[in-house]
Amino acid sequence: MGVVYSAIHPVLERNVAIKVLTEYESGSRAVQRFIQEARLVNRIEHPNIVRIFGYGELPEGRPYLVMEHLAGRTLNALIRERAPLSLDEAFPILEAIGAGLQAAHEHGIVHRDLKPQNVMVLEQLGSAPVVKLLDFGIAKLLTPQTSSLVATRTGTTIGSPSYMSPEQCAGREDIDLRTDLYSLGVIAYEMFTGRLPFRAPSHVEARSMHLHEAPTPPSLVTGVPAPLERIILRALQKRPEDRHSSIAAWLAELAQLPVEVRHWRPVPAAHGESFEPPVDTLALGKPGELSRADVAITPQPKPQMRDSRLSRRAAFGLGMLAGAVAMLAIGILLMRWHRVQPVAEPARPSAVTVPTIKAEAPATSAVEPPAPAPAKPSKTHHKRRLTPDDINRDL
Ligand SMILES: Nc1ncnc2c1ncn2[C@@H]1O[C@H](COP(=O)(O)OP(=O)(O)OP(=O)(O)O)[C@@H](O)[C@H]1O
Ligand SMILES: [Mg+2]
Repeated sequence: MGVVYSAIHPVLERNVAIKVLTEYESGSRAVQRFIQEARLVNRIEHPNIVRIFGYGELPEGRPYLVMEHLAGRTLNALIRERAPLSLDEAFPILEAIGAGLQAAHEHGIVHRDLKPQNVMVLEQLGSAPVVKLLDFGIAKLLTPQTSSLVATRTGTTIGSPSYMSPEQCAGREDIDLRTDLYSLGVIAYEMFTGRLPFRAPSHVEARSMHLHEAPTPPSLVTGVPAPLERIILRALQKRPEDRHSSIAAWLAELAQLPVEVRHWRPVPAAHGESFEPPVDTLALGKPGELSRADVAITPQPKPQMRDSRLSRRAAFGLGMLAGAVAMLAIGILLMRWHRVQPVAEPARPSAVTVPTIKAEAPATSAVEPPAPAPAKPSKTHHKRRLTPDDINRDL
């Protein structure tokens, strides 16, 4: 819908972010939404919601908003780099998102487009991260003033399918704050498991899964403890009345989890389900355009497969080597055999080296005086020509 620029305010000399509407038509729904975003955000005025302090139009008429510049990164980038997160890591972020949403709800405003791309996180050493909600462009006022604001056409669905509640997917008009709670549940699921509850190849299928399918329990993905799992799955209930009645109630339950759950660390591939790493293998397009459900996930080769392939190759190599050594040995034996086979050529005895034949020791008897000690066999080898007689004798 818009392009966001980083800029410096010439008078205030401070960093700002300027969001400019890309496609516009004077008085169009998009322009009205843009103005509405500025008005709603200023109405809420909360530390967990981005501040908007200017609205204007470029010379050719394109509207723009001037916002505080947030130096952090989106929650989407953080999830892709670090998920699955422990409760210790995730809780301050969920709490801050929840505080911003709760403030909006108390002003009768439902965000309707809550997703990690619309949350900025600035991590700071030694203190809680600064978290701000962005993009109230499709937010809805639930109070009587609604008539003065932009209404969505009946039956139209707006939002981001991967994070949309079932009632939003169904295009229902009577949505309330619990739609944001559902989206927060999807974000929590993703933070604790590193994957979306519904991974669909298309928007249509994602909507259908939100409406009709149950997500894989997070305990089966990364070993999320039962009390935490219950809280996440309650936010993901299909019927709004089965969820908590407010974001504050959901957060309160999260905050009351026992210490051992607070210190839980995710276990990849728990219970045999393969853990899908944060999607660093996915190509990212324009921020906010792609979600995990929109793109195919490249499976990583399993390391043990590579190992077994290697060992098979090594075994083959060793076999070949052993074969070559055996062939060589047979060759040498054959050559030696041929060298002592001049039987066919008796006239030309070969000049081979043979050990000196030992002198026979004379026979000894008890009555006879001891014979002189037999000569020690000489270690010296003498060379002499092998004659056909020698060969015949050996044979
Ligand atoms: N105040 C800001 N400071 C720094 N970065 C910002 C700020 N506002 C927005 N951005 C960046 O610009 C991106 C788009 O912003 P925003 O969601 O407001 O616009 P959008 O065009 O409505 O996006 P979409 O409709 O795709 O959600 C954000 O995901 C964030 O990366
Ligand atoms: Mg956005």
